[in-house]
Amino acid sequence: MTSSEPLNESQQNGGKVTGNLVLAASMAVIGSNFQFGYNTGVINAPQQVIEKFYNETYESRYGSFIPLTTLDLLWGFTVAVFAVGGMVGSLCASWAAGKFGLKRSMLYNNILAVCAALLMGLSKLAGSFEMLIIGRFIIGVNSGINMGVAPMYLTETAPVSKRGVFGTLGQLGVVSSLLISQVLGLQWVLGTDALWPLLLALTAAFSVFQVLIIPFCPDSPRYTLLVTKDEDKARQDLQWLREKDYDVTEEIEQMKEEHKDDDVAKTSFRELITNPSLYRPLIIAIVMQLSQQLSGINAVFYYSTDIFLEAGIPPLYTGVATVGMGVVNVIMTLVSISLIERAGRRVLHLVGLGGMCASAAVLAVLLNLQRTSAVSWLTLAFILIFVVFFQTGPGAIPWFITAELFDQASRPTAVSIAGLFNWLGNFAVGLAYPPIASAIGGYTFVIFAVFLAFFWIFTFFKVPETKGRSIAEITALFSGEPAMHYTKSTML
Ligand SMILES: *[C@@H]1O[C@H](CO)[C@@H](O)[C@H](O)[C@H]1NC(C)=O
Repeated sequence: MTSSEPLNESQQNGGKVTGNLVLAASMAVIGSNFQFGYNTGVINAPQQVIEKFYNETYESRYGSFIPLTTLDLLWGFTVAVFAVGGMVGSLCASWAAGKFGLKRSMLYNNILAVCAALLMGLSKLAGSFEMLIIGRFIIGVNSGINMGVAPMYLTETAPVSKRGVFGTLGQLGVVSSLLISQVLGLQWVLGTDALWPLLLALTAAFSVFQVLIIPFCPDSPRYTLLVTKDEDKARQDLQWLREKDYDVTEEIEQMKEEHKDDDVAKTSFRELITNPSLYRPLIIAIVMQLSQQLSGINAVFYYSTDIFLEAGIPPLYTGVATVGMGVVNVIMTLVSISLIERAGRRVLHLVGLGGMCASAAVLAVLLNLQRTSAVSWLTLAFILIFVVFFQTGPGAIPWFITAELFDQASRPTAVSIAGLFNWLGNFAVGLAYPPIASAIGGYTFVIFAVFLAFFWIFTFFKVPETKGRSIAEITALFSGEPAMHYTKSTML
């Protein structure tokens, strides 16, 4: 964020948000970030009806109903295979960006989205849950690529003074599309026996939108200038994104200037894990990512309908409760975007983890009580509180800290390793939740509470405050200084 630095006149002009820039940003957010959010939320509400399809398909093939444990495993796999795709996609993202540029990476990625939508949408007709599972995997690859490429496009097309804001647009896109999927999944909309294939296939609508808009949008001028090395085209594209009377010369020069930093040799994976001043921040980055996923947040985003049914909330209201959770999620994302710029990362993360840990402990108790209506609604309330605390810290802070712990040379490698662990945690929770919840019920939240307590302690003792410190100051913390030195000085 450079928004606090004084800007000269020409930068201020260039800082205006034009219609063309809004068009390009919408193309990236709706066409790319939406795929990730939509497919994170879409299998939540229709779990019951899709499980019925699994049961019927199994019965027609093997002549007996599906055993409950098989169904739990199969459903968990259907949900979580999305994250396996995400891992593959995140590994492909920087390769695709380098080979095709950001615009064509996003464009070609829609081929995957349309294939996935067809597989998922036709799985019922074909009587094959395998098609649904393969579709979930492919849309996961699509999301992994999108989440690598779209944020880059957003920050690289935005004026320098608006980069921070445009970066957060992507996150807002994710939570908004999660909410859209929850609304469309309601039993009065598309969450029915007959219509769930359409609900899953609708993810192609975001691709159609992107394919229609993308011909009017330029590639990232930064990519065109520095990788394609076509300065005239880069100028032309940048001019299109900015106002007519704005002189792009200075911004082009600035890109060339910044590019000089890129020439620093990139730290290899090997260096990163063998150099103590690099592997210590890397461990922090990885644990921060795991703290986001193993907090159990995706148990809630993937399976809240099931949790609400368990808690005794009438089936008529479980969909509405899930939508309510999505609304809270969007509102809290807006709140946290404004908090992050002001409050310290460490404090926000500690408050978030602590609040989630307490809510998880209460949920474990509530889910084991006699189901009176008071207990049911209290369960709903604590699920919402769980989400509120998630967005306070663990929702965004791990990404901020990961980016801030490393210098230009080691950041790309570190960020991609951290991303891999993020998807891995996502996969583990998605896969393990249904069988574990079947076996031990509400005590599953005890597991999350224990994880959260561990992550709280780790954050308290090991994670330095990064806000307001330069990258050089932060990296100095890890170059040979005894560990206690920085933890002591940064304890609140
Ligand atoms: C499968 O469907 C049958 C018939 O509707 C039902 O009795 C059985 O409980 C279902 N099995 C599971 C695991 O849901």
